[in-house]
Amino acid sequence: MLNEKEVLHAIVKRVLKHLDAGTTDSAEAPYRHPTWTYTDPALFEQERLKIFKENPQLVGFSPDLPQPGSFFTFDDLGVPVLLVRDNEGKVNAFLNACSHRGARLKEGCGKAAALSCPYHAWGFDLKGKLRTIYKEESFGCVDKAYYNLVKLPVEEKYGMIFVGLDPDMKFSIDDHLGDLAPYFAMWDFSSMELVNTHEWRLQTNWKLALDTFCEGYHFGPLHKDSVGDYAIGNLSLFDRFGPGQRHHRVAFPNTSIGTLKDLPEDQWTDVFSHFQLVHFIYPNISMLVSPTAVEFFQLYPGATVDSHMTRYRCYWRSDLSRPDQGRDPQAHFEFIREVVDKEDYWVSANVQKSLSANVKPFSTFGRNEPALINMHQAFLRGVGMTPEQAPLEKVGA
Ligand code: FES
Ligand SMILES: [Fe+2]
Repeated sequence: MLNEKEVLHAIVKRVLKHLDAGTTDSAEAPYRHPTWTYTDPALFEQERLKIFKENPQLVGFSPDLPQPGSFFTFDDLGVPVLLVRDNEGKVNAFLNACSHRGARLKEGCGKAAALSCPYHAWGFDLKGKLRTIYKEESFGCVDKAYYNLVKLPVEEKYGMIFVGLDPDMKFSIDDHLGDLAPYFAMWDFSSMELVNTHEWRLQTNWKLALDTFCEGYHFGPLHKDSVGDYAIGNLSLFDRFGPGQRHHRVAFPNTSIGTLKDLPEDQWTDVFSHFQLVHFIYPNISMLVSPTAVEFFQLYPGATVDSHMTRYRCYWRSDLSRPDQGRDPQAHFEFIREVVDKEDYWVSANVQKSLSANVKPFSTFGRNEPALINMHQAFLRGVGMTPEQAPLEKVGA
């Protein structure tokens, strides 16, 4: 098990070195990224098929299914999914479709002792087994064993729930996360409480919306009246994890981290209050972990290449009813929501307009934006291209 103090102190030491030198973690060189990747409908279709359907999806956390019988539905990727915790405490994932004639079994979230179809009242247990056929004598004799709900692969670990959208997919959370997993094991997200949730449906490609979570170069200018008040900006640590180095973590220090510079390490306190740790879990999750909260952002392709949906769920890592150093969970949620809404996503939407006008062949990611370079190269590999094949020639640059 990783030692949290050692992990956090190592981060601070790396930041302080950069602070002294006026540097930041960097890529070798700036990178030209072709803008058609944000506007091309054929690539968009490939992404939906290969990047989303072929990778496990982080759909929620253990506290979203607090008790036996708790359920929630997931419909963000075109496959209707029903997640249920059974009486043994195990999480099951089913196609949210009745085995009789396909009606949706549940909507939203809630608690149920069993699953009864609203259409003709067939009854299933929490493991998806068909138990009762309404008016069975007139329906006729069928072998119930062939009418269980369709199971989807699912795993719950470290308080996280991942689902595969193809019944034949095999995955494990540890294999998927690779060397990122020990960090989540160290924190374990099984006892958080949901503060609030918000959804955006915007005219922005899903990858463009993700970009805003990957660099601190914009903190000073774009967030001058919000995050820019306390974050250093343009100084970040970048680390890659997992198979193909597809996941990443960016540490964004606050100006307060400077107070640790002149203190001996054994006098450092509240170390985790001096930076923000933003994790990208391939292909579509941005997750900011702090001592008090987890800001969980799920991003999904919309109906067209230039549209997407983000769901933001804010979880509190301690008891919501307990005042935590004077921080009000709802005010915290509102602050983050407003920053993303009025600043990050405002700019993403106006960037999409300029990209969709199709006059500019490439955007450029600076050396100081290494996470963007890494993430977009992973997306290209995800649809079967190599970074070398990719695409600058296609736009004639
Ligand atoms: S569709 Fe479910 S019982 Fe008929
Ligand atoms: Fe931002």
